[in-house]
Amino acid sequence: MSNDELAQIVDTSDEWIYSHTGIRYRHIADQGVAASDLAVEAARAALQGAGVEAGQIDLILLATSTPDYPGLPATACIVQDRLEAVNAAAMDLVAACTGFVYGLQTARAFIESGSADTVLLIGSEVYSQIINWKDRNSCVLFGDGAGAAVIAAGQTAAGSRIIDGALYSRGQGAEALARLTGGSRNPLAADQPTTPGCYLSMDGRRVYNFAVAAIVETIQTLLQRNGLSFDDIDWVVPHQANVRIIDAAARRAGFDPARFYTNIAEYANTSAASIPIALDEMSRNGAIARGQTVITVGFGSGLTYGGNLIVW
Ligand code: UT7
Repeated sequence: MSNDELAQIVDTSDEWIYSHTGIRYRHIADQGVAASDLAVEAARAALQGAGVEAGQIDLILLATSTPDYPGLPATACIVQDRLEAVNAAAMDLVAACTGFVYGLQTARAFIESGSADTVLLIGSEVYSQIINWKDRNSCVLFGDGAGAAVIAAGQTAAGSRIIDGALYSRGQGAEALARLTGGSRNPLAADQPTTPGCYLSMDGRRVYNFAVAAIVETIQTLLQRNGLSFDDIDWVVPHQANVRIIDAAARRAGFDPARFYTNIAEYANTSAASIPIALDEMSRNGAIARGQTVITVGFGSGLTYGGNLIVW
């Protein structure tokens, strides 16, 4: 869906959206397509790419804030069944746009502790079903998508591995980006099946300021505690929320913005899926090579943020 198409349903313009966010398009799932449907597609592609059978998976981690059903069952279990991953535990991970970063660190912890050998990590989101299409402050920002990775014990010839991860939470900002109705705090009323609180609400300015600081802190922490400088990093793969956020963070810290990968123009913000979609795209278009050092950095609802230091 282009910005011009969006401008037909809400009071906005291509000029405003592009100049404020860097977004030109977003992909919208067909009606009836849920997070598990996109997740299964991404998972199958990742398993095939890794040469791993579904039966080898010990754990499925599904990062999503747009699950098939609110709360239960876990969407990861629906994916487990569809993949016939008969030996896998399955759980959802709710860290919104930081979900893939949290998931990578969780996968690493399971593997390093010996609790799992093979983890399937998926970020899958259908934000088109939870945004208020009448709210121009938020609906222009998001898109649907999924990405997946297989994380396994051991090292490849190129030395691919997860070196470090840093995760943070700032719950005082919990309501800055939230769906406030439909949980145990504000349950759905039987006579009022839809209320504005059912949809995503966002304090854009607050999230913007938080995000810039979060990117800077995460990258600096991962560099410092691993004895690295920014010159040692081939790519930063940031959560794709707004190019202005990424540019402002790079400028503030004195990092070369050209080493921050962006593809938000095509996909908008796909939340937990944005980092794996970017990594997959980089792998396919040759931007990233085996053995390169990468920092992923995510930030979002919770508020949560963090990053992973990996050798691709
Ligand atoms: O994964 C995390 C997800 N969330 C985010 O990343 C959001 C972070 N925040 C942002 O990216 C930015 O704050 C936004 C893109 C949401 C907004 O940009 P901004 O430069 O902070 O604009 P603003 O909220 O200060 O609004 C400026 C004006 C307002 O009009 P007035 O009050 O100055 O007359 C808004 O009503 O722009 C107006 N506006 C729009 N106009 C046309 C807000 N949204 C739109 C729109 N089209 N879609």
